[in-house]
Amino acid sequence: MTTSPPGRFDPAFVGQLDTLLAWRRDVRHFRRDPLPEGMMDTLLSLAQLSPSVGNSQPWRFVRVLSPGLRASLADHADAEVARTAAGYEEERRAAYLALKLHGLREAPEILGVFSESAPDAGHGLGIATMPEALLYSTVMAIQTLWLAARARGVGLGWVSIVDPDAVAALLDVPAGWSFVAILCLGFPDAPSAVPELERRGWQDRGDWRGHVVER
Ligand SMILES: Cc1cc2nc3c(=O)[nH]c(=O)nc-3n(C[C@H](O)[C@H](O)[C@H](O)COP(=O)(O)O)c2cc1C
Repeated sequence: MTTSPPGRFDPAFVGQLDTLLAWRRDVRHFRRDPLPEGMMDTLLSLAQLSPSVGNSQPWRFVRVLSPGLRASLADHADAEVARTAAGYEEERRAAYLALKLHGLREAPEILGVFSESAPDAGHGLGIATMPEALLYSTVMAIQTLWLAARARGVGLGWVSIVDPDAVAALLDVPAGWSFVAILCLGFPDAPSAVPELERRGWQDRGDWRGHVVER
């Protein structure tokens, strides 16, 4: 990492950053080969550069190394997918069940992400009125990790079709850690500039103007 403070980034880099944003992707189809030695340490140390309320750094990562735990997480996610499917009417259910919604069995790396609900760091700054700012901070760290990973050719998939309490129990985390995400990481099978849910006809990405109101 460069330590000289750039006043501004050169246009070539800015162009590449825009490309990175366009090609980030949520990945569910992974190659099984492991990430290079030290890659997870690099990515987690870059995530540590994220902004956080009061500089509280509330993100807590659990690196899942046990094959048994991985299998339990995958079984649990599959069960929750099936439960969710039951709530859709027939046509939508068939479309939902045709989607691949996690890569928990194949991805070489699995991370549980939690947020400390009463961190010592930050001395409470900014969370008296908005305690949820801690969760937002943890999500920022995930986004940093996501972009740092993709810049290195590593795909990330966010899995939320799980029961937070069940995951917290499986990963045996301390009380006070709120579940945020399970992340799958690994080299993607096939990079794409188009979200998988869009390619499969589930949901297109809209125009940004549709999300802006003017007052
Ligand atoms: C908070 C959050 C939760 C998500 N949960 C899931 C999930 O459980 N399963 C899944 O397949 N994708 C999940 N995704 C990925 C989205 O489906 C994906 O971001 C969206 O379709 C846009 O695609 P893109 O990320 O490739 O641009 C999640 C994304 C976010 C931000």
